[in-house]
Amino acid sequence: MNVLLINGSPHEFGCTYAALRQVADQLEADGVDTTIFHIGKVPVGGCVGCGGCAKTGRCAFGGPVNDAIPLLEKADGVVFGAPVHYAEPAASMLGFMHRLSMAAGQNLRHKPAAVVASARRAGTTTSLDALAKVPQFFEMPLVSATYWPMVHGANNAAAEAAQDAEGMQTMRNLGRNMAWLLRCIAAGKAAGVAVPTAEATSRTSFIR
Ligand SMILES: Cc1cc2nc3c(=O)[nH]c(=O)nc-3n(C[C@H](O)[C@H](O)[C@H](O)COP(=O)(O)O)c2cc1C
Repeated sequence: MNVLLINGSPHEFGCTYAALRQVADQLEADGVDTTIFHIGKVPVGGCVGCGGCAKTGRCAFGGPVNDAIPLLEKADGVVFGAPVHYAEPAASMLGFMHRLSMAAGQNLRHKPAAVVASARRAGTTTSLDALAKVPQFFEMPLVSATYWPMVHGANNAAAEAAQDAEGMQTMRNLGRNMAWLLRCIAAGKAAGVAVPTAEATSRTSFIR
């Protein structure tokens, strides 16, 4: 079993990383392999709706989105982590998630997901709500913990985040719950519990 943890901060080893590292360490302690993927320092743009990915399974704009797809294909669970920027998840992470899900959303479907936010002070719960939108769209069971999954620290200050004892404890509990759910899903699969087949989407709008 493998969990992909995506660090949506421009800081490869900042507060978001500190939170994800804690989740990963707990997962590893519980027998689950982990991969932490950094989306990079260069701003990541959002989806332009060109439709190119429908033909190739890859984003026409390349970059970290396409680098992450092979990792996503082999992942059994995904953790999306982002710093709070102006009380929302960092724009690069939202752009990354939109493009990743357009290009490879089928690789998200039914895999357990968790969201994690890091802030100096405010905007964590709005950011967690926004980060949950892609997992909710792709039928991903959302893994929770003993508090909303957030840590606190200044920009690129992993040592500060590490002092957030309750935040770090929440990350460990998140890792435990993710490992437990993965084992439950594996046991269900071995016992013949089939993944549900959704009804074909009936696309409607308010004008037709
Ligand atoms: C552009 C920008 C906007 C930010 N906006 C907020 C904010 O609204 N609320 C907050 O508490 N921290 C804000 N911060 C601080 C970071 O969210 C916070 O320090 C976070 O823990 C950094 O994580 P990182 O080290 O992984 O990047 C902002 C940082 C930047 C660069």
